[in-house]
Order: sequence, then C-alpha cells, then structure tokens
Amino acid sequence: MSLGLRLRSLVQNPYRLLSDVGVARGHVFMDVGCGGGFLSIAAARMVGEEGLVYAVDVKNERLESVRNLAVRLGLRNIKTLMTPAEVLDGVPEQSVDRAVLMFSLHHFADIRAALRQIRRRLKPSGLTLIIDPIASRLLGHGTNPQQIIPLLDDAGMQPTYVRKGILLWKTIVKPT
Ligand SMILES: C[S@@+](CC[C@H](N)C(=O)[O-])C[C@H]1O[C@@H](n2cnc3c(N)ncnc32)[C@H](O)[C@@H]1O
Repeated sequence: MSLGLRLRSLVQNPYRLLSDVGVARGHVFMDVGCGGGFLSIAAARMVGEEGLVYAVDVKNERLESVRNLAVRLGLRNIKTLMTPAEVLDGVPEQSVDRAVLMFSLHHFADIRAALRQIRRRLKPSGLTLIIDPIASRLLGHGTNPQQIIPLLDDAGMQPTYVRKGILLWKTIVKPT
C-alpha cells in the first residue's frame, strides 16, 4: 500500500468504517468518488473473491492508481469505472449491497441527480454510508446534513442515524 494510504489508515481505520455499514463476504460494494482507493482496497479484501467492488471516479489517474494497487496486492475483484456519480454507467440497477461516499459528496456537480442514481443501483436491503466535511466549519468546502436530508428523501432514501462531529458529519441511509 502507498505511504499516504498507510498513514491515513493510522487515523481512519477503513475496515472499521466498512464494518460499521455491514460490509460482508460476497457483497457488491460501490465506492463513489473512490479517489486513490482508500476504501475500495479494504472493501475488496472484506467482500472476498465471491464479492465485487465498483471503484467509481471521474478522474482516470485516480482509477489508474486503484488498478495498480489492486494488481500489486493481488486483488482481482475491483472494477474501476470512469463515470460521474450523476450517471453511474456500468453499475447495474438494484445490484449493490453497500455504497460509500467518503469526502466525495460535496464534489458532485449535481448532488440530487447523484443520489437518485445511487438509489437506483441499491438492492432493497442496500445501505449507503456518507461521510462529508461540514461546510460551515471548513469555509464552505463541504455539505450540511440539513441540506442533504431533503435530497435523500427526494431520491427515495432515509437516514438510519445522523452524527455530526466538529469537522465531519456521517450518516448511514437506507432505501424507503
Ligand atoms: C476528496 S476525494 C475522496 C476520495 C476517497 N473517497 C477518499 O476518501 O480517499 C473526492 C473524489 O471524488 C471524485 N469526484 C468528484 N466529482 C465526482 C463525480 N461527479 N462523480 C464521481 N466522482 C467524483 C474526485 O475525482 C475525487 O477523487
């Protein structure tokens, strides 16, 4: 694993984050705005050979890093997809057990459209973990749960809980 990802794992345990949302062997997992694969790599280990990870991003160089890392680590269950969250080309409808949007939601050009697309990809039992910076505390770089919850509702999802920290907020949402 790269030094950056290893250092980050010391403060944010990706396996714990994924356990919190119930990622399990055989699951289909979708990492929307996967970046360098901090969660995709951990998820690939957790879902195992019989599971599948969709690592989704709009930047090819980020996906290239995920592919290289996967090859180095011998992980063959990661499918990288260069498609915006607002489109999610290549992810079949109602196929995803667990989705994660970690620090990516506030980057989406059209959050409403992205949430609708994510909802369409979830199985009825699917869950989505969202972790994002709180906008007001980071000079506008982020979102607020008050802003996002109505959009979740519009997309056909509802929070099971919402937790607001000092810098970040977190929720796990389920289809309604
Ligand atoms: C701050 S990074 C977070 C990466 C990763 N989730 C993590 O926690 O390390 C945000 C990522 O979202 C991606 N992104 C931005 N807009 C996007 C969109 N519309 N659809 C999918 N990914 C997007 C960016 O390219 C970037 O890799």
